[in-house]
Amino acid sequence: MSDYEQDLIDAAWPYWECEAEIAKRFYAKASDEDHIFYLRAQLWKELNPVDGFFNGLHKELKDAVDMYPKVDKEIDRHDYHFLLLQLVQEFNHYVVLADIFEHLMGRPISPDDTVQLTEEKKLGDVRRAYVEQNDPLLNAAVGFTEGGGARLFREGKELNGSKVNELTAKAMQTIFDDEHDHYMEQAKEALSHIKSEEDLQRMKDAIQKISEQRVWMRAEMFRDAMTKDEIESFIEANRR
Ligand SMILES: [Fe+2]
Ligand SMILES: [Fe+2]
Repeated sequence: MSDYEQDLIDAAWPYWECEAEIAKRFYAKASDEDHIFYLRAQLWKELNPVDGFFNGLHKELKDAVDMYPKVDKEIDRHDYHFLLLQLVQEFNHYVVLADIFEHLMGRPISPDDTVQLTEEKKLGDVRRAYVEQNDPLLNAAVGFTEGGGARLFREGKELNGSKVNELTAKAMQTIFDDEHDHYMEQAKEALSHIKSEEDLQRMKDAIQKISEQRVWMRAEMFRDAMTKDEIESFIEANRR
């Protein structure tokens, strides 16, 4: 691993671990109703992956069709393949989590069941502000923070005991395996844009800003499993 790669991971580390801690505390006590609450929010996220960077699965799928004739002209085939793969995987994340939602609700899911919570909306705005600067380095920083180092899924895949926990563990294992690959791909991309210490600093700043907002997004969807004070001291204590 190059030094820069370690620097990027260190920048995100306390925030990623905080996402894990929030999820762990939530799952330890979650009622069926708590599961339903967070699933509505997570399902929205899967249908609108990396909101602010992507524009919802429907539009991204349409754009992918339009991009096809440009493959190996303006668009690298490897990049195009990664895009297709990511869209298929994100749709599958929706599929597996919607199955849990239906199990809990005892009825079919409808499009109105998903919800974009306030902090998720803010996260989209933070990403959009970087993307609008049209700077490949900042785009790569947005990509690098996708999925928060897969920490929610790392915790979720260890659940056991109840039926809902077993269903969740299976779904989260699937998502973890995918998100882990996304993260490796995006890390490679991010490193290719760092040519100086100044670039590194700019990328680290963006990674920290986005990652912090990700933590508030998790706190909201996991019903304040950690308080604001607990989150702030956790992040300080886990800085690298
Ligand atoms: Fe996903
Ligand atoms: Fe993802």
